[in-house]
Amino acid sequence: MGYNLKSMLTGTQTYSSAELMALEDQYGAHNYHPLPVVLSRGEGVFVWDVEGNRYYDFLSAYSAVNQGHCHPRIINALTEQAQKLTLTSRAFYNDVLGRYEKYITEYFGYDRVLPMNTGVEGGETAVKLCRKWAYEVKGVPANQAKIIFATGNFWGRTLAAISSSTDPSSTRNFGPYMPGYVLVPYNDLAALEEALQDPHVAGFMVEPIQGEAGVVVPDEGYLRKAYELCKQNNALFIADEVQTGIARTGELLCCDHHGFKPDIVILGKALSGGVLPVSAVLTSSEIMLTIHPGEHGSTYGGNPLACAVAMAALDVIRDENLSANAQRLGKIFRQRMQEDLVDKTDLITLVRGMGLLNAIVINDSETGDLGWQICLKLRDNGLLAKPTHGNIIRFAPPLVMTEEQLHECCDIIVKTVLHFTEE
Ligand SMILES: Cc1ncc(COP(=O)(O)O)c(C=O)c1O
Repeated sequence: MGYNLKSMLTGTQTYSSAELMALEDQYGAHNYHPLPVVLSRGEGVFVWDVEGNRYYDFLSAYSAVNQGHCHPRIINALTEQAQKLTLTSRAFYNDVLGRYEKYITEYFGYDRVLPMNTGVEGGETAVKLCRKWAYEVKGVPANQAKIIFATGNFWGRTLAAISSSTDPSSTRNFGPYMPGYVLVPYNDLAALEEALQDPHVAGFMVEPIQGEAGVVVPDEGYLRKAYELCKQNNALFIADEVQTGIARTGELLCCDHHGFKPDIVILGKALSGGVLPVSAVLTSSEIMLTIHPGEHGSTYGGNPLACAVAMAALDVIRDENLSANAQRLGKIFRQRMQEDLVDKTDLITLVRGMGLLNAIVINDSETGDLGWQICLKLRDNGLLAKPTHGNIIRFAPPLVMTEEQLHECCDIIVKTVLHFTEE
C-alpha cells in the first residue's frame, strides 16, 4: 500500500478512509465485516465520512440511535453529568440512580428495574432472574430449570447467548454450550405449547420481531397467544425488546401492539440514544426480589452518567412523539417499497416490518452477494444500510426522520435497486 502505517500513527496528519480501514485491518480483530465507509460525524438522521460525504443512516447502529445522532438534549445530559459524577459502583449510593429507577419503572409501568450496560447483559440478567424465580417461587428442583427460546433468536455474543443460537456462525468452535435451554421454531404455537408441558420450564424468552434474523415478523396473534400459554403453564414470558423497544416499531414496546404486558422486559440500545451502553431489565417485585445483595451486578450498571443519559433519551422519545412518527413513516415506507419495488420487479420478493424496523428480501439465488452489492451502491447514492443473511437488507433509520426525508430515501433505494435490474 502507498502509505506508511508507522508515520500515520505518530504523525498529526488527518487520515483518509482507506488509511483508517487499513489500521483496523492490521491492528484489530477481524470479528466484523463492515461496509467500507468511515464515519466521523453524525447529526440527526445523517452521518458524514472522513472525506465529508453525507449519508442517510438507515441502520441507526442496529436501532440504538432511535433519537438521531448526537441528540442535543441527550448530549447535554451526558456532558452535564460527566462534569459532576460518572461512576461510584454500587458499593455506594449515588444521587441519580434512585431517581432514574423511579422514572423508568413509571415510564414502562413495572415495579422494579435492574440496570446493566449492554443488551446481552440484560439478556443474561433476565435468564438468571427467570431461573431464580423458578427455584424460589415456582419450586423447580435445583439445577433443573429450563428456558425456551425460538429458533433464529439473537441476543448477543456471550456464551449464555450463543448457547441458544441456531446460527452456526455464532456457535462454531465456541462450545461447550450452556445447558438448560429448549428450542422451538419461531412463530409455532403448537411447538411452544408442547414444550411448556415440561414442569421444569421456567420461561420463554423471545424477540417480538426477530431483528438479526432479518426482521422476521411473527403471525398476528402469535405473541399474545404465546403469552397466554406461558400464563397457563406457570412460566414467565420474557420479551427481548433490545432492538424492537423504545418506539422503534411504532409503540413504546413492540408487545404494546399486542395488548399484553410481559413478565420481564429487556431493554438496551436506544435506552441511551446511542451515547453509552445502557441496558435494563424491568419486572415485578415478586420476580425481581428473588435476587439478593451480592448475587448479581456489574461495576458500571446503574452508574450516574448512564442514568442521566437514559432519562434524557426517554424524555426525547416521549416529547418528540417518536412512536407515532415511526408508526406513520413505517406505513409510508412499506407502501413505497411494495408499490415501487415488490410490485415492479422480481428482484425484490418482499417487504416486511413494523414501524421503522423493516427489511426487503432480495431474490438472489445466483450470487448470494447481491445484498452486499446493493448496499455498496446505496452508499454511493448517499444511504447506509447493511445486509443480513446475505439476501435481506434491514432498513432502520433514526425515528426523528421527516416525511420529506423518508420520501427522498425511498427514491434513493428504489433508484438503486432498479439499477440492478437493468444490468
Ligand atoms: C434482540 C437483541 N437482543 C440483544 C442484543 C445484544 O445487545 P448488545 O449488542 O448491546 O449486547 C441485540 C443486539 O443486536 C439484539 O438485537
